[in-house]
Amino acid sequence: MNAFVDPLGASPARLEARDKLSGSARYLDDLSRPGMLHAAIAQSPHAHARILSCDVSQAAALPGVIAIVTGADIPARRVGGMVKDETMLAVGKVRYMGEPVAAVAARDAETARLAAQLIAVEYEVLPHVLDPEAALAPGAPILHEDQAQYVRTMEGGGSGNLVWQAVLAEGDAEAAFAACDVVVEGIYETPAQYHGYMEPNGVLAEPEANGRVLVIASCQSVHHVQQRVADELGIPMSQVRAQVPKVGGGFGGKHASNIHSICAWLARATGRPVKLALSRTLDMEIQRSRHPARIRLRTGAKRDGTIVARHAEILLDGGAYADESPNVMTFAMLMVRGPYRIPHVRIEGRVAYTNKLRAGSFRGFGNPQASFAGESQIDELAAKLGMDPVELRLKNAVQQGDRWIGGHTLTTCRLSDCLAAVRDAQAAAPKLPAPRHGRRRGIGFASLTHISGLMGTAASVHMRADGTIALNTGCVDIGQGSDTVMTQICASLLQVPIGQVAYAAQDSDLSPYNWKTAGSRSTYMTGRAVVGATEQVREKILDHAAEMMECAKADLELRPGGRVGIAGVPGREVGFREVAMRSLFKSGGPIMGFHGLVYDGERFDPKRALMQRLAFDNLGVYTFGAQCVEAELDEVTGKVEVLRMFSAHDVGRAINPVSCEGQIQGGIVQGLGYALTEELVWDDDGRLANPSFADYKLPGIKDVPRQIVPILFEEPEPTHPVGAKGVGEISMVGTAPAIANAVAQAGGPRLRRIPMTPERVLDALEP
Ligand code: MOS
Repeated sequence: MNAFVDPLGASPARLEARDKLSGSARYLDDLSRPGMLHAAIAQSPHAHARILSCDVSQAAALPGVIAIVTGADIPARRVGGMVKDETMLAVGKVRYMGEPVAAVAARDAETARLAAQLIAVEYEVLPHVLDPEAALAPGAPILHEDQAQYVRTMEGGGSGNLVWQAVLAEGDAEAAFAACDVVVEGIYETPAQYHGYMEPNGVLAEPEANGRVLVIASCQSVHHVQQRVADELGIPMSQVRAQVPKVGGGFGGKHASNIHSICAWLARATGRPVKLALSRTLDMEIQRSRHPARIRLRTGAKRDGTIVARHAEILLDGGAYADESPNVMTFAMLMVRGPYRIPHVRIEGRVAYTNKLRAGSFRGFGNPQASFAGESQIDELAAKLGMDPVELRLKNAVQQGDRWIGGHTLTTCRLSDCLAAVRDAQAAAPKLPAPRHGRRRGIGFASLTHISGLMGTAASVHMRADGTIALNTGCVDIGQGSDTVMTQICASLLQVPIGQVAYAAQDSDLSPYNWKTAGSRSTYMTGRAVVGATEQVREKILDHAAEMMECAKADLELRPGGRVGIAGVPGREVGFREVAMRSLFKSGGPIMGFHGLVYDGERFDPKRALMQRLAFDNLGVYTFGAQCVEAELDEVTGKVEVLRMFSAHDVGRAINPVSCEGQIQGGIVQGLGYALTEELVWDDDGRLANPSFADYKLPGIKDVPRQIVPILFEEPEPTHPVGAKGVGEISMVGTAPAIANAVAQAGGPRLRRIPMTPERVLDALEP
């Protein structure tokens, strides 16, 4: 037998690697059903208008059209996370250009699209507002006149175009500023970013027996899809089943898509399967974006570099519906202090409705906006103090055992090590060739912080008749590698090769509950559940083996490859297969383990900080890191090119180091796009001007730095049984400010607005 390699901390190939590389993996658009219909969406041509009438007769007369649904047909109920303000199709009003107003199911996609164009909607056009500041000004057109009547899970806004507002304060910032030697202040602006996953959203809904509807969706949680569809259709969750095929990326953009309910409604109405796989353009027009932000930030310090006070006013552009806005805003507020020991902090946050695509969850969840402001300003402060920016960060860095604003204890924190590591790695790396004529080179740094955790999850583990293992969780692998990581954890605890653990696909009928693949939480939260369930199975295996070998359980040990032996007595052992057969046919019953948990770590301490109307009061464990960017600025073209990056992270324990590095590299590339090229742009009429990859510039292979060096610090996180923390989002939160800092360090302009396009850089160079 081959030597057993513990899968924990190893980097086995992804379970699905062969299927994905060969093209045999099935994504939503690969699915088809006999008699399947195709759906199309009719969209609003106005940014803001009242719907006066809707005539579907011409569309319905088109041969091949089977069903049409409009806002008048659907249940009169609004849904949403914290503010129930949204319906699956517009009812009464449209609030952004492109908003779905009706949908068609037809025998083929072309007929459906044609029919959608034949739906005649009569509108009374209303004045619209696109800028969040203008939306909050007196006299602005109001998007949700009935906002005061909407169901809200807690108070936080609810009048005019104000979706939510909150205040977070610790210490006495105003008094502290008065005593500072140096104060820096600026306004930082960040754009609407599109998730840019390889696969747009898609859904296939089909009627099942007993009147149920099956919704197969490219999504981040089958349980969330099930809940949302039931809510939107006004039926019990027991009547909805959700499944997921392979998913080509999510990044926060595959929660709560209206198309799930639209297709479920059409499937129920027609009694036939209905599919809608969004085109790239439609996905960009009707899904969601990252919140554009305007952050006024002020930081004050003593002459020696001790940072004393920070004040932030955060204004987020929420778009037409609240979606995750209160939560994103709360998280941005919690992150904008940065990972520094700043005793006096005041943070005010507001989100406004505007007549644009809704903004919502997106990798980093408010933190990329907050960190762009915060980490840019640290460098501005360093410049004003005449201090080295890394030294300034090290002097103020939070340490293990410190408390975050509100009182959460930092259980593990290697921030200072990460800062030193990227600085030293850059200094020790081979020197890059000198810049060509007309280009300036700079080095920029950023501290990174995020969280890992939140909400409920569960796992079950079964032993099969041959002694192999079935692992089942609700955690959807959206491309980041969680299937492999969960399997590694389970296999390691049972000391079997990963090939002896079968990881089930997610199905709301069969999978234990999982909130979402989100919040950098899968390895941390679902990983904890997998450990708990697997340990129960291990105990039962040992119980059986003790009876079979007539010895004390305490004398037994698991041996690699699925065997149990008596410690110190070679040879005497039973195999998992014998244990399984005994449990199934003789004694005890099937061997199963189940473990569920909810993140129940420390809550904010209201005695420590003023926390008015924050959307949540605990988060998960805190994670840290640091980045160093070497970039060049072309003085003639204004183009910024990132040459090399170093990114250090405290990951707790790396279950799969190659996957950790993949997350870091992917996050950096997404952060690089955010920094330099990506921006959804609306024209004055409220039309999304660039809903295609021809006009919305994702980084391509030539834009990616020639070298990204990930550095992992492993210090086991004590609240996780195998020591892991998450690394899914953190790498992108500091990339934009690190690049902005490199541009300034190169002698270029201090850019407080991203993306730092060549036009903006040139404007700043030649005012
Ligand atoms: Mo995410 S933005 O935590 O889906």
